[in-house]
Order: sequence, then structure tokens, then C-alpha cells
Amino acid sequence: MKHQLALILALSTALSLFAQQPNAAYLAKREAYVLALMKKMTLDEKLGQLNLVVGGEATTGSSVSTDVETKIKAGRIGGIFSVSTPGRIRKIQELAVNQSRLKIPMIFGMDVIHGYKTLFPIPLGISSSWDMSLIEKMARISAVEATADGIFWTFSPMVDIARDPRWGRIAEGSGEDPYLGSQIAKAMVKGYQGKGYAQTNTMMACVKHFALYGAAEAGRDYHTTDMSKVRMYNEYLPPYKAALDAGAGSIMASFNEIDGVPATANKWLLTDLLRRQWGFKGLVVSDYTGISEMVNHGLGDLQTVAAKALMAGNDMDMVSESYVNTLGKSLREQKVTQAQIDLACRRVLEMKYDLGLFTDPYRYCDENRAKTEIFTTEHRTEARKAAGKSFVLLKNNQQTLPLPKRGTIALIGPLADNKENMAGTWSVSGDFTKCVSLEEGIKNVAGNVTILKARGSNIYSNARLDANVSIFGKPTNRDPRSDADMIAEAVATAQKADVVVAALGEAAEMTGEASSRSDIEIPENQRDLLKALIKTGKPVVLVLFTGRPLAIQWEHDNIPAILNVWFGGTEAGNAIADVLFGDVNPSGKLSATFPRNAGQIPIYYSYKNTGRPYGGNGVDFAKFQSNYLDVPNSPLYPFGHGLSYTKFEYSPITLSKNTLSMAVPKDAINVSVTVTNTGNYDGEEVVQLYIRDKVRSITPPVKELKGFQKIALKKGESKTVTFALGVEDLKFYNGELKFVAEPGEFLVFVGTSSSEVKEAGFSLK
Ligand code: NOJ
Repeated sequence: MKHQLALILALSTALSLFAQQPNAAYLAKREAYVLALMKKMTLDEKLGQLNLVVGGEATTGSSVSTDVETKIKAGRIGGIFSVSTPGRIRKIQELAVNQSRLKIPMIFGMDVIHGYKTLFPIPLGISSSWDMSLIEKMARISAVEATADGIFWTFSPMVDIARDPRWGRIAEGSGEDPYLGSQIAKAMVKGYQGKGYAQTNTMMACVKHFALYGAAEAGRDYHTTDMSKVRMYNEYLPPYKAALDAGAGSIMASFNEIDGVPATANKWLLTDLLRRQWGFKGLVVSDYTGISEMVNHGLGDLQTVAAKALMAGNDMDMVSESYVNTLGKSLREQKVTQAQIDLACRRVLEMKYDLGLFTDPYRYCDENRAKTEIFTTEHRTEARKAAGKSFVLLKNNQQTLPLPKRGTIALIGPLADNKENMAGTWSVSGDFTKCVSLEEGIKNVAGNVTILKARGSNIYSNARLDANVSIFGKPTNRDPRSDADMIAEAVATAQKADVVVAALGEAAEMTGEASSRSDIEIPENQRDLLKALIKTGKPVVLVLFTGRPLAIQWEHDNIPAILNVWFGGTEAGNAIADVLFGDVNPSGKLSATFPRNAGQIPIYYSYKNTGRPYGGNGVDFAKFQSNYLDVPNSPLYPFGHGLSYTKFEYSPITLSKNTLSMAVPKDAINVSVTVTNTGNYDGEEVVQLYIRDKVRSITPPVKELKGFQKIALKKGESKTVTFALGVEDLKFYNGELKFVAEPGEFLVFVGTSSSEVKEAGFSLK
């Protein structure tokens, strides 16, 4: 006991030191340890450390790993992901520690994306909370639960900027904006890694997918990206950098190419930018078979692409096993060097050292923690709060919402009593049957209302499309009846009720990996149902489930109230009911623009003005201007949009001065507004600050988010919100990729969304 305590203390001093700032003494000790170990290693053992295999609980490609046990004993595997529970992990770790020659412990990872067993809203949903402490807490709880179950490396946060809602993986990130995305990236890393790996309830983060994965052409997954460097630096790279600056221990190379070379073998990306410019010292891992897929990309045979990946700076090979199978040959043929192999191996071992595995390979195998720290009441309470804060009230005419806790509700739609789909995409560790359905939530929150149910529609009318998304343990429970029969029943049900709550939209697996859509409207059969329901004359509330911004112009024009609930996780149903019945006032704001139709994509608020800006004369269309014949340029719902049951009024902006000086160190202007809650409910508001650089050496966006504050205001209350805007906030990457601020005139905007703002101006001298 005494011995154990001493060990723990020694370990925590070393690790907490590392967590703060890796000091010289710690680094020297680590280096000595790792180099001594590497001296004993054969080439095959070194390559084994670079081999990351999948354990079988989840696969995200066509390959799975085989003969895992034999390979571990032979020292041919460095890590494994998608296995869980302390018992299983201990057994696997024992194979490495007791039966392999050098007893090097393995690393255990998993995609813990929006919670572990206690599921939180999908990332796009939680990003709509604009609440950094909430997001950090989600990541903290995820780490507590995952490590209690033996897992200490998560393939999260996913920080890819996405401006194309056709892309299914927009659900997994924080939307379109580099500033908001960077704040969230930092909060997630802080939450996962806590104060450092000394505590066994922290886990190593893996930032992904580096880089530009969200810019896939045509919104089709795994597709090509191509982008100018100024756009990359100003708009797409900041969240990766922010996550690394926050201390993320590892980063995953993306599937896509950049400048014609897949990220996995892109030396400019993985070495020049990541290591040399950004100074990243941690581990680079490929994505799932990302290395062998470069054969399909057209870069050569397996041996060639594996050598390319290693030489570019990709340390670990996820699933393809091309490193273990070909790098030996490449070394003999002098296609790679020993130094390159050693460097990658060293990074893996350093990570294991930092995680304390050489001191105790079973640090995370605590059966007792698994029993007491997973899926606790406290975690579920937090998940319910988080879900409530992620919902976005898109529209609410004549105060249709909140609903009274009495009377009769017609609860209609394929998602009204579905538990599994509440989990959302990328929830491999969750127990979906424990999710709270909307129907259960309504019963829990508003016990006195009478619920009349009708199926109304399937997700898709087309059985094949339905089957495509009824996967990964998330059935859509297809009803065999015809669309017309289901609609007729729904209409008859609606007629008997005071209000219709229609639970429609996407099934969970209509977003996520390999779930791109070319049509981002609500499936037609669901819209037909809505049309029939509206005709009954009953008020209709659309509870919209989605993992992406949808094109819902018709719904906007015809349905009085639309509450966007994403996929809320374990407590989704309770949280939705909290909002529907007014126990919680919605406060979410969109982190990605909702287009009017898919033809407007890519669409985002920080667009460039162009030489022929649209709308200059207050008209929707003008010949020879940058606009469409058939649809305005403006989105259906802009970035930052989200209503509340109460009303917030903004005062004009006041500035502490009108000029910022580059000569004065840390000079800043205070930008203030007073926000008053003039409605009838207490509520929360996200006050957003944007700037526009009026003239600069490369064309400026019309607006850029530079700050936000989420404030709570009691009914009738006012608060003054102040942002300090400094020279750093005005900087951008110029044509030479230098991060500069250029003197001149600026506009500053503060408001409730990117399009509803107050405006003022100042200059930079
Ligand atoms: C492929 C996905 O692109 C990535 O996000 C994930 O972390 C890996 N599979 C591992 O499951």
C-alpha cells in the first residue's frame, strides 16, 4: 500500500509536471528511457509500435484486423481501438506486458465523440450552445466514463470547418466558423486531457481530421479538396492549431488530398506546417486504412504509399498494416531510412511514457470505477442540461411554443417514439436502448397531457433508402403501411387534439461518415404528412431532428413553430420536453448556416463581397450582379440565429475610443452594448461580435466573428456586455501568409445573430 502510494505520488509529480509544461528534466528522463528501450528493439518490434489495429466493436471501413493475439505476443502491435471494459483491456494488455519480448504496453483508443455511455448531443448540436464550459464538461464526463472503462485515447475533437451541409460529417464538427470552432476545440481538449495525464480519469485527445476534410468537393465524403493557402490559413486551419495549442497529444491525418497529395503522405502538411511551423511534438496517426487507400488515390503500390506516409511524418498506421508489412523491405531497399522509422517509433513510445503506461500498464483498468463512474445520474443530468442548451428555436410564430402542460397532444412522426436514433451518429460506445424517446420525455415532463399517437410516415417512403440509414443499431422501425394510410391516420389523430407535435426530419445515420446527401430537404413523404397536418387547422410544432443544416424553406413558410433538436443523446426526449413545455427556455444559436436550397451551397456568413455585390439596391435580383435568378443570396437561417421564448433588445454600440494603435502594446478598444430582456421569460442570450476590415491587401470577408458572450438575463433585466478588441483580433494571413494587421478603417458589429446586428466603426493606426 505504502509502496503503491509512493509510486502514485512519483508518477503524478512527473506527469503533472509534463501536463503543465514539459520541463527539461522530465524530457531528459523520458528521452533516456525511450532511447534505452529502443536500443533493445528489433526492426520488427519498432514497426510493431507503429501498428494500430481495430478490436472489432466498431469498424469504419471494409478492413478488420485479424490474428490480433498472435501479433501482440510477437510485438507486432502498438495499440488497439474499439475494445472496452477493464476486464477485456487488462487481458489484452497482459498479452503485451507478459508475453511479448520487450513487454511494451499497448495504447487503447476509441471514438468517444459526444459522450461515452452517457451520450450528449452530436457535436454540431452541442456547438450550437456556444457554451464553452458546458462543452468542456461534456468532454470531461466523456473522459471520466471512457477511462473508467479502460480507454484512454479518444479520436476527438473533430474540428473540420464545414460549409457544405450535404457532407454527412458536418454533424461531427462545430460548423462553419474558425473562431467559434477554435474556442470549442480548446474546450474539448481541456475537458479530455484535464490537468494532465497524472489523473487516471483523463484521456489523450486526437485532433482530426488534419486537414481540410470538411471541404470535400460536392459534399461527398472522402472526396478531393482543393484550396488556396490564404483560405486555408485564415478559415480552415485555425481550429486544428487551437486544439494543438491547448495541448492535444495527437492528431489524425485526413483522408482527402491537399495540393494533389493525400494528407497522410503530405510532407508539407505533416512536417513543414505541423512540426516546423507549429512546433507540434506529439503523435500523428493516419485515419482508418488511410495509408493503403493511397493505392486507390493513384500514388503507387502498398510499399510505395507506406514509405511515402512515413517520410511525410505520419507516425502510426491505423488498420492498414502496411507499415508492419512493407517498411522492412523499404528499409532494405533504401527507400526509407532507419532514422525515419526510429523517429516514428520514438513518438509512439514517448506518448506511452507520457500516459504513464511504463509505470503502470493497468492504470485504467479499475473494475470499481467501471461500476461507479459510468452512466451516473449526475452525468445524465448534465447531458439533459446540455441537450436543452443545444436546441435551436428556428421559428415561433404567435408564441406557439411553449405548450401548456394540459390538454391533448397529437404526437406524430417516425421519430416520436424512437429511442435508438436519439443517440445520433458516431456514438459507438453508447447503449441506445437507454436513450429517452420524445414520447417518454413528454410523459416525464408533462404528465397531465393526453398523448394521442400516430406514426404519420416512415423516414423515407423508399424502402431501400430507409434500409441504408437503419443501421449501426439504430432501427427506423419501418411501418409496412402505405404513405396514404399513415397520413390518413395522422390527420384523424390531429383532429382530436389541441396541438400537433410532429417529430420529423432525419434518422441519426443520415449524417455521419459516408452519409452525404445531394438533397438536403426533409424527405418528400414527411413533407406530405406536414401538408396534411397543416390542413387540419391545428397548430403544428415541428420538432426537427437533423445532423446537418436542412433546406426547409417550405416548412419555414408554412409551419408556425420549428424547434431544431439535432440528436440530443441519452436524455434527448426529456430535454426536448423541457423546452416544449417551457421548463427550459431555448438559447441555442446556429453554428452553421441553413440554406434555402442546396444550390446555394457552399453557404456561410463570412463570404466575400465580390466586385458586383448582391442586394446593393435592396433588390433580390439585378442583372450583372453576383446573385441567382431564382433565389435570394441570403440564407434561410443565418449563422448565429436562434430564438428564445423571451425578447432581447440591444442598445447601440458604445466604443471606449475610436482609434487603435499598433504602436501601443496590447492596445484595445472596449466595445459595449446593453442587452435588455424585454419579454416574459428569464432567458439566455449569446451576444455576438463581428468585425469587417474595410480595406486590406487581400479581400476581406464581409463579417468575421471575433467574440461572443453567453449571458443569462432575468425577465426585465439589463446587462452591459463589453468586449476588448485588440490589434491581435484584427490580424489575418496576408498574401505572403504573414499574420498581420493592416492600418485602416474597420466596422464592428454586435448582435443576436450574424445578420441582426448594431454597427459602429473605428480605425487602426
Ligand atoms: C474513420 C473516421 O474517419 C475517423 O474519424 C475515425 O476516428 C476512425 N475511422 C476510427 O474509427
